[in-house]
Amino acid sequence: MSSQLLLQRIKSRYPIVDRTISLITNPIRMMIIDDPDSLLDTLSKEDPDGILHLPYWTYLWPSAIGLAHYLDGIHDLTGQRILEIGCGFGLAGIVACQKGGRVLFTDYERDTLSFARYNALQNGCTDQAYFLQMDWNAPCLKSKFSRILASDVIYEQAHWAPILTLIQKYLTPDGEAILSEPNRTSASAFSEQIGRYGLTYTKRTDDVVGTDGVVFKVSIYCMKQHG
Ligand SMILES: C[S@@+](CC[C@H](N)C(=O)[O-])C[C@H]1O[C@@H](n2cnc3c(N)ncnc32)[C@H](O)[C@@H]1O
Repeated sequence: MSSQLLLQRIKSRYPIVDRTISLITNPIRMMIIDDPDSLLDTLSKEDPDGILHLPYWTYLWPSAIGLAHYLDGIHDLTGQRILEIGCGFGLAGIVACQKGGRVLFTDYERDTLSFARYNALQNGCTDQAYFLQMDWNAPCLKSKFSRILASDVIYEQAHWAPILTLIQKYLTPDGEAILSEPNRTSASAFSEQIGRYGLTYTKRTDDVVGTDGVVFKVSIYCMKQHG
């Protein structure tokens, strides 16, 4: 689909606003949802068990900006096969594309993939960006990846096992999974789980300026297959 058609489709459904994320290498132009709080009532969904699912994909989270800065500091990803899970508006994957990676952007929300696709095109990621609607509880992937990216996806404890299982299964033996999260206290229990999946990790915490100008702490976990 051309970027013009994507834009028409998105504009017919959502109020939008453009934001620029300033990185050292170059600025990234992101089209995101304007005032996502106003859509909470219409986009929240209750599942058959009565659990309410909030539309978290409608926000560009500080963790995505933190991961984008981290990836911006990596010199070169040329030719690497990269997977992003829970990609939202696609910021981290776009930076990985600009570093030369071939990125498969995935999320289980179809509309967020329209934004990610549009944003990728807007930032010159044409040939190396692929998009797939995918639930990380049931990954439909045919091969492994040398990098797996994820920002702000471990906010529910129920996500930890499927995400770590996916990383264990689809990361190449010498690959690296890079996950960012907003320094929640619950993440220390997550980090205790990492070793159970045959992975080791390092962690660092950065100050990140969100789209609203507020500074957040974002932790970056880099995970590798053990030995
Ligand atoms: C908090 S948002 C983070 C979005 C984006 N990565 C960011 O940091 O701005 C969580 C994202 O994970 C996606 N997500 C939640 N559960 C998922 C699942 N089971 N499979 C795939 N994606 C999922 C949501 O649609 C949403 O885009």
